[in-house]
Formats: sequence, C-alpha cells, structure tokens
Amino acid sequence: MISKKSLIILGLIMTLLIGCSKEDVMKPFKKDSTAEKEETEVSKPVEQNKLPPTTLKKGDKGQDVKDLQEALIGLGYELETTGTFDQDTVQHVKDFQGQAVEMAATGIYDDTTKQWLKKANEHAFKVEPGSGISEKNITTDKDHVLKVGNPKSKLVLVNKNHALPDGYEPPDLKIPDVPFPFDEDIPKKYMRKEAADALEDLFQAAQKDGYKLYGQSGYRSYKRQVEVFKNNANQMGEKKANQISARPGESEHQTGLTIDITSENVQFTIEENFGDTDEGKWVRDHAHEHGFIIRYLKGKEDITGYSYEPWHIRYVGKDVAKVIHDKDITLEEYLGAN
Ligand code: DAL
Ligand code: ZN
Repeated sequence: MISKKSLIILGLIMTLLIGCSKEDVMKPFKKDSTAEKEETEVSKPVEQNKLPPTTLKKGDKGQDVKDLQEALIGLGYELETTGTFDQDTVQHVKDFQGQAVEMAATGIYDDTTKQWLKKANEHAFKVEPGSGISEKNITTDKDHVLKVGNPKSKLVLVNKNHALPDGYEPPDLKIPDVPFPFDEDIPKKYMRKEAADALEDLFQAAQKDGYKLYGQSGYRSYKRQVEVFKNNANQMGEKKANQISARPGESEHQTGLTIDITSENVQFTIEENFGDTDEGKWVRDHAHEHGFIIRYLKGKEDITGYSYEPWHIRYVGKDVAKVIHDKDITLEEYLGAN
C-alpha cells in the first residue's frame, strides 16, 4: 500500500523533475541571450571605431588619420596605423570608395565616405577589400597606354591614358528617337540602346521645359575617328588637334555612350557658345537627371585632357551622373583614375 505521505513525496519528486525539464526548455532562450551578447560584443569594436569628423587627404597627419586607418583595418584592409595619410592610405580609401556608386573614388576622406564607412561598420554595406572599380578593369598595354578591360561598361573610362581595345565595336546600337538637323541614316546618329533611351528622356524633359535640343554626332567608329583626327591635325597640327579631338581608340564616341548635341540658337553647330544658350544651361543643370554628364568641363582641362565642350554629353547612368554633377567633378575624379 502506498501511504498518503509517500504519494506527497512522489508528487514533490515529479514537480522537481518537471521543473528540470522546464529548465531544459528554457535552454534555447539562454542560448539566444548568449547569442545576443555575442552580437553586442562583435559590434563593440565597431562602436569604438571613431570616424574622423573632418575631411582628410594625402599628406595629412595625426590622430584623425590613425582613426581612419583603424576603421579601414576593421573592414579588412591591410595597412598600418601610421597616422600619416600616405599613398597606401589613398589607395585603400579609393578602393573603398570604388565599391558604391554614391562615392567618388577621389582618395579623399569626405563626408560621403564617412557615411559609407559608418554603414560598412554597421554591416549595412558589404565591403570586399581590393574589389573597387578604379583598378579592376584596367590592364597595361605594351605601349604603356592603358587598354580598358570593360569597354561595354557604362562607366568605362576612355581618355588619353585609357584606350579602347583594338577594333572595339559597341553592341546594341540604335538611332534615338530625337531630332537631328539632317535626315540621312548615318552612323553618327546611333547610340547604345540604354544611352539612346536615356537621350530620348532627356530631350523630352527639355521640350517640356520649353527647350528644343538636337542630336549632332553620336557613335563614331575607329575608322571614322582616324579621319576626324587627321583632318584636324592637317589644319592645326597634332598637338592642337588633340586638345579638341581624340586620337583613334581614345574617343568616347567609339563607345556609343556619347553624343554631341546642339540647338537652333547656335545654328546647329558644335561650339562653346552652346554653353551660354538657354538650351546649354538647361543641359548643364538637368543632364544628370537622365544619366548624362558634361564630360569636358571648363577649368578641368588638365584632368580631362581636352578643351571645354558643353555639347559633349556622356551616359554613365543616373546614380553616378548625380554624384558627378553634385560634386562638380570629372569622370576621372569620380573613378580615381587619370
Ligand atoms: N572631342 C572629343 C574629345 C572626341 O574627339 O572624342
Ligand atoms: Zn563629342
């Protein structure tokens, strides 16, 4: 016979046992709170990474530079905390900047770079050291002229230091549905599809604001650029010719991403006055909203290598065009290249 007392003792033992299993059930919660703690611990050094409040550039020294270097090291960059903004630091900053379209790869630590470093620290933006856009797509040619490895990219850099691969012809060329001051179906009417579509949007927006724009000269083959450059060189000598026209292989017109535009106000010519017309001013202020930049700016001739050309617009896509416009920089500066 089991006594009442034994039953009570048995009940107590059972309660204890159930209590234990409850404890087991609770375990995952414990585990979770440990995980939470671990997560806090992971983000701790991130919080301690002080991001310098001021703009920093090559040659600067001090604690702010050290803080920046530490922040970069925290993201996986291999550099030393020297406290001097040296060439190594410039390269790493450029690489970091090259990983998001909103940053220009200037190698200068500015407010935008700070915001993105903050995002990277908070794991809201994934950084892959070494994968920035500025160096990845460029290989050296035997003549010490750089040949671009990304001719089809809308961010391709084509200039006196960066030529297109031999014989490059762009894909998906089409005639944009915009007015031209001539009727013939000739190659210079063509552009790459994405750029042509964006040009249609740009011209429609101009029309809405009361400005009529015309296309003048878009795609130019390598062979055609030979003729253009030769003509100019015959007239004014090679040096001068190369200030206003590119050598074959070095012209953006060969990418199909560029077009020279004009208006009736300048009798459909390609000349500097275009920049002073209402149409030219409208283009300067609104081209970026449709993905275009004025490629050769006044005062930036040393960087671009060419005279001011308010008529020569280059498609790079809306995000990058906005950064380039807002910062008043060139594509070279945006890409951190020369
Ligand atoms: N006028 C520009 C520089 C070109 O020839 O591509
Ligand atoms: Zn042009």
